Amino acid sequence: MSGTADQGPRLRPSLDGIPSYKPGKPAGADAFKLSSNENPYEPLPGVLEAAVAAAGAINRYPDMAATELTEELAKRFDVPAEHIALGTGSVSVAQSLVLSTAGPGDEVIFAWRSFEAYPIITQVAGATPVQVPLTADEAHDLDAMLAAITPHTRLIFVCNPNNPTGVAIRRAELERFMDAVPSDILVVVDEAYREFLRDEQVPDGIGLYRDRPNVCVLRTFSKAYGLAGLRVGFAIAHEPVATALRKTAVPFGVSQLAQDAAVASLHAEDALLVRVAALVEERTRVAAALAEQGWELAESQANFVWLRLGDRTMDFAAAAAAAGVIVRPFPGEGVRVTIGETAANDIFLSVAQAFRAEL
Ligand SMILES: Cc1ncc(COP(=O)(O)O)c(C=O)c1O
Repeated sequence: MSGTADQGPRLRPSLDGIPSYKPGKPAGADAFKLSSNENPYEPLPGVLEAAVAAAGAINRYPDMAATELTEELAKRFDVPAEHIALGTGSVSVAQSLVLSTAGPGDEVIFAWRSFEAYPIITQVAGATPVQVPLTADEAHDLDAMLAAITPHTRLIFVCNPNNPTGVAIRRAELERFMDAVPSDILVVVDEAYREFLRDEQVPDGIGLYRDRPNVCVLRTFSKAYGLAGLRVGFAIAHEPVATALRKTAVPFGVSQLAQDAAVASLHAEDALLVRVAALVEERTRVAAALAEQGWELAESQANFVWLRLGDRTMDFAAAAAAAGVIVRPFPGEGVRVTIGETAANDIFLSVAQAFRAEL
């Protein structure tokens, strides 16, 4: 036997370089949480009832194939059921996508800054992240992303609209990009915030996936559907990508509560659309008020806004917290502020106004 009695288990040295995921700060009892892009509404009609009913059978494993939810999604998006792969939130499906395509020596390209899990899940797989800076107007630099492709590239994330900047890529630009990417590289269009889009020139990723075998789409129930706490998201991908996702997913990951609540929330789509419309209206109001205050904002198509504050970022986050709203700072870069309840948005606007006067 090798090793000594006082030696701990050997961990992969590559883990040392992986940043930890920083969740949005929780809010205390008397603060609003605008730090995690959550939905401020209570569960949609019928959702709580479905979850409570499923809770009566938690001594059983869930349906591993998530048959009912998969069929509902297939109908809803007019795709074959075999093209749907579910996971515990779209972040875990994103992780399975990386595990399915990339390992040591392989490269995964994404814009930066973008969703903070991308570098983490890439390095967990042992692959190398290739971060391509956003343009000066906070958008994906698709030409630079194309230029970053090498023989080692296996996967490209395109976050549309982008977290944390909210900027969306329009059809002509995205199609040109897709057409230029070699067909043996998987392009993942992460549409976590799709429901909040109002720019009609932004294409639906599902339309792009249909005749492109190397394109797949990520969606989630965590944002517009308000099920962040239940953890359910999915990919729509061609074979053999969808099959690979089912192989690399944690078995029985999506609980029956999550599956049944997701089905119920799909059935409550009319109520969902009303809520999403109200949040989009709030986004418009907040963006207009910020512009009035003198902030120069990139246009957000998601349920948050982005203030590029540079070295004032942490000061702003502290001022917001003191006023009763928790925002998401990225030190040295900016703050992302979720569109929440009207009262919370109003506090944020008053902090922004006072801060603006100091700049
Ligand atoms: C762009 C993007 N993709 C995926 C996710 C993951 O969401 P979930 O795992 O809750 O589905 C998030 C969450 O913040 C996100 O911003």
